[in-house]
Amino acid sequence: METKFFSEKFFEKYGNRKINPVLFFSPGRVNLIGEHTDYNGGYVFPCTLNYGTYLLIRKTNSNTLRFSSVNFSNDEETEISELFINKGSNWINYPLGVINEFLKKGIKVCGLDFFYYGDVPDGAGLSSSASIEMVTAVALNDLFGAGFDMLELVHMSQRAENEFVGMNCGIMDQFSVGFGKKDHAIFLNCDNLGYEMVPLNLKNHSLIITNTNKKRGLTDSKYNERRSECEKAVELLKPFRPVKNLSRLSVEEIPLLEEHITDPVILRRARHVLSENQRVLDAVKALKDNNIQAFGSLMNQSHDSLKNDYEVTGIELDTLVYEGRELPGVTGTRMTGAGFGGCTVSIVKNEYTTEFITRLAEIYTRQTGITPDFYLPETGNGAGKKDITS
Ligand code: GLA
Repeated sequence: METKFFSEKFFEKYGNRKINPVLFFSPGRVNLIGEHTDYNGGYVFPCTLNYGTYLLIRKTNSNTLRFSSVNFSNDEETEISELFINKGSNWINYPLGVINEFLKKGIKVCGLDFFYYGDVPDGAGLSSSASIEMVTAVALNDLFGAGFDMLELVHMSQRAENEFVGMNCGIMDQFSVGFGKKDHAIFLNCDNLGYEMVPLNLKNHSLIITNTNKKRGLTDSKYNERRSECEKAVELLKPFRPVKNLSRLSVEEIPLLEEHITDPVILRRARHVLSENQRVLDAVKALKDNNIQAFGSLMNQSHDSLKNDYEVTGIELDTLVYEGRELPGVTGTRMTGAGFGGCTVSIVKNEYTTEFITRLAEIYTRQTGITPDFYLPETGNGAGKKDITS
């Protein structure tokens, strides 16, 4: 959306044209490989998109927080209180959770007008939630001169999601949305938060994101269930090999899992984590070596493991992936994000992108009755202030 048009909407909503709002932006992300590893202290390899969440924000002389979004029909108003409480299934929980984190740290918040606009599809596994949290966090940090560094804002946003919203996510989304860099993917070690920016040069390939458009179902509860299953694996291994998290074990130690974990479900979950960590290491190397073929094949293996061992795919994602793989020019394709729905990410040779989109849309709709959406994103930078005149 044009910034001018967006600010016009802001004034229509909140009036008082004498005081301009300030503009902030936070991207969405797509994870290239390394799924369901972050909360196991493992490796991930996401990149930030040029899609994201815009926030126009302005201080007022009142004690009221006013929230509105181009994307959601409900506006909200609330008085600033000691600490806020969860408002049920409402998008306002994302900013409120973040504001709570600022209040907890003793930052005095005055009345504010918030106006959001997002072009990351909601609930599609492209971090629309982390994007709203982080844009709120960078804006409050700037407006109140709070002086928190980006890592602190990442932790605050993750806590907002874990403790306020109630989704027990890992750190990948908030971290990548905060630290992302155009034309790069972030190779992040979620155990110690060490990271490396790797140039994302896909040579003659394009990145295509396909949205299953499957209605969001039990994603959060299934997600939390997977987390507990991984914790159970660590627990079961304790007498034989005590580790802080599953990612302290290498792929060579899969036989150790097979020996000591008798529950077949827990074994499969743990095996996915160990094998996926190795795939991330191999994928980063492949990208550095300009070996896009090898990178794509690791993406394919990642999906197979998420389907068979981690069981977070489903008919919609599997149809896109397994039908997509049969199409010409497809070097790699897999689900991305939490799974159960949401999106796939594919690497497709440039000359085949149109054919990929047309044929896959046709097959997918025929098999599932749903029309998919396709995005050809560019990478973008992490969360920050924007020039309102640009
Ligand atoms: C969601 C979570 C992330 C991560 C992915 C799966 O996006 O928010 O922390 O666990 O799922 O890799």
